[in-house]
Amino acid sequence: MMQLAPTVAPLIDSFGRVHDNLRISVTDRCNIRCFYCMPETEVKFTHRSEILDFEEIERFARIAAALGIRKLRITGGEPLLRRELPLLLSRLAAIPGIEDLALTTNGVLLDELAEPLYAAGLRRLNVHIDTLDRARVLEITRRDDLDRVLRGLETAKRAGFQIKLNAVAVKNLVEPDIVPLARFAREQGFEVRYIEFMPLDAQNLWDRSKVLLADDMLALLSSEISPLVAVPDPDPRAPATEYAYADGGGMVGFIASVSRPFCLNCNRLRITADGKLRYCLFAIEEDDVKSMLRGGASDQEIAALVRRNVSGKWIGHEINSGKFVAPPRPMYQIGG
Ligand code: 5AD
Ligand code: SF4
Repeated sequence: MMQLAPTVAPLIDSFGRVHDNLRISVTDRCNIRCFYCMPETEVKFTHRSEILDFEEIERFARIAAALGIRKLRITGGEPLLRRELPLLLSRLAAIPGIEDLALTTNGVLLDELAEPLYAAGLRRLNVHIDTLDRARVLEITRRDDLDRVLRGLETAKRAGFQIKLNAVAVKNLVEPDIVPLARFAREQGFEVRYIEFMPLDAQNLWDRSKVLLADDMLALLSSEISPLVAVPDPDPRAPATEYAYADGGGMVGFIASVSRPFCLNCNRLRITADGKLRYCLFAIEEDDVKSMLRGGASDQEIAALVRRNVSGKWIGHEINSGKFVAPPRPMYQIGG
């Protein structure tokens, strides 16, 4: 892919972190109701007219690419609910400077959409699956879609996708699932990433005692399956710490947001489905890109807003300090 000439300064914050990674949420709607993200009932979704359209998303992504963004990840809500998503992906994949495009999904609609997404140029998927146990799927997601997700994984694998599984690690809940999920992933050639439960749920259920810690999962997998050996990530700024099974059975990652915060390496920016720019998953304040996109602002003015947002970025989320304040919007409205 063509490289842009470095005509502009990189997006760098006051702690020296260079930002080259943008996560784009394309909808806040979801077809399941994971308790660590959404309320069970009475979810208030954003009205369609308030959601960025494809022209707006593409324009913003072009401006971001010209500022040095190289990697895009599409998130939601559940992004596969967005109509004509493959069309958007082919447009984003064609933006000069974008070197990597990935998508995070709950997998429910993957059976139908894997092939069109692959044809659109997408190659990397993160599929959310916490457990292979039907009763626990129901308990966690308040829906009964395990079979569809498994079918979706099969279709996506056949289509040629590189697949990672995302599992949220909640203490006193998913302990029985850690090993079976890892075994399934090893058989299928997927990498699992266990994500420590973060304070982003809609019902204020989170507290530290509910986080299943990366070290505990590491010890469990090492003793039950095969010893895990730390491997340096080719991208040191990626959030997961990666391990390889000593028996050659593949890789496992841990996103230890709570026990080993990785904010000092953060290279990420986020835009929500309703066009708000966030410099952190846990940011309290947002910048309103949508008003600028819809109010006749020039590319330069929007680029200046992105720079301002990045230069105001805080050092980190402070989950482990008494100062922590959960963001006003839960996960499904932010985009993971
Ligand atoms: N804590 C940690 N991870 C979460 N996810 C959703 N809610 C939470 C939470 N409260 C994960 C899901 C999804 C990804 C975008 O974020 O696994 O795949
Ligand atoms: Fe939906 Fe993802 Fe939130 Fe689960 S974590 S409710 S799949 S948006």
